Amino acid sequence: MSILLSGRWPQAEQQQCLHWLQTALPGEQWWLAPPTDAAQAAQVEVAIVANPEPGVLQGLQNLRLIQSLWAGVDRLLQDPTVPPEVPLARMVDPAMNEAMVHTALWSVLSLHRGFFDLQAQQQQGLWQAPAQLRADEWRVLVLGLGELGGRVAQALSAQGYRVSAWSRRPAVLNGVQCLHGEAGLNQGLAQAQTVINLLPLTEQTRDFFNAARLASMRPGASLVNLARGAQVVEEDLLAALDSGHLHRAVLDVFRQEPLPAGHAFWQHPRVTVLPHCAAQTDMRSAAAVVRANVLALRAGQPLAHLVQRQQGY
Ligand code: NAP
Ligand code: GLV
Repeated sequence: MSILLSGRWPQAEQQQCLHWLQTALPGEQWWLAPPTDAAQAAQVEVAIVANPEPGVLQGLQNLRLIQSLWAGVDRLLQDPTVPPEVPLARMVDPAMNEAMVHTALWSVLSLHRGFFDLQAQQQQGLWQAPAQLRADEWRVLVLGLGELGGRVAQALSAQGYRVSAWSRRPAVLNGVQCLHGEAGLNQGLAQAQTVINLLPLTEQTRDFFNAARLASMRPGASLVNLARGAQVVEEDLLAALDSGHLHRAVLDVFRQEPLPAGHAFWQHPRVTVLPHCAAQTDMRSAAAVVRANVLALRAGQPLAHLVQRQQGY
């Protein structure tokens, strides 16, 4: 089978990725750029992509599977040259899920116990212990109850936090207050001391955290955005922080990445900036996920983790 591997990454990362894929799928023909020869391009049946440049899949007439190495496929769905009839599968990687749980737990623990504030106190040479709340006195709202949100909600609940989660459709999850609809969202936002965003970027979730929605969060709450930067209206978030309505923001994703030098978030005393590293694809486990889908394609069996294009995730 002829396979195109394309992404926006440093060469060393691309080579590492190729290594794990070739180990999982020996004997295939690999392309690191679309073949310029029309006959060779016509042989490419699978494209494995990591947030690729727009237009890279154009002209691959016999493509049968687009396998994303990223969980979020918003950029692929915004590229009008991605063939709409070709099945698009996204990455569901056990190691990525685990990493997201780590980032979410660290964020919530740091907010609940005041550890971010203590770091700032150290800079001022200030010795002052904060109030010690129990985990069951801390309410977390997880937005999105999918592969990542579901695991995060369960891990927080296992640590003793009071956890609510919001999804598009009604859901049931042991130990988690499951909410849906606008009323459920408002209830969750009004209660939570920490809100973790794990929604996919779609038409419905773009600019989700605007002034009105931030205002409906509980006074003194903090926002943890681990999904996509375009879901936050940055100036509205800065205003909510500066007015004192929100306590802190932990941000892994931004409207422009890398976050430009001089951006207000870099120096803001109550913003924690992470360089889009909350949960990266781990090729050691992701290669097996890709392999399973390529083998299913070859055997004419159902493909896993297909994106529902009309719903946008
Ligand atoms: P997923 O399995 O597709 O789950 C998405 C969840 O969001 C589902 O529970 C879905 O509800 C809910 N949802 C979607 N649209 C909604 C809406 N309009 N209103 C309410 N709920 C809505 O996605 P995932 O694998 O958990 O990944 C989530 C996102 O995380 C990705 O799209 C990506 O942007 C981001 N991500 C970030 C990093 C990072 O390092 N920062 C790493 C990986 C992924 P239903 O259950 O009702 O369908
Ligand atoms: C990373 O942001 C991903 O979507 O996998």
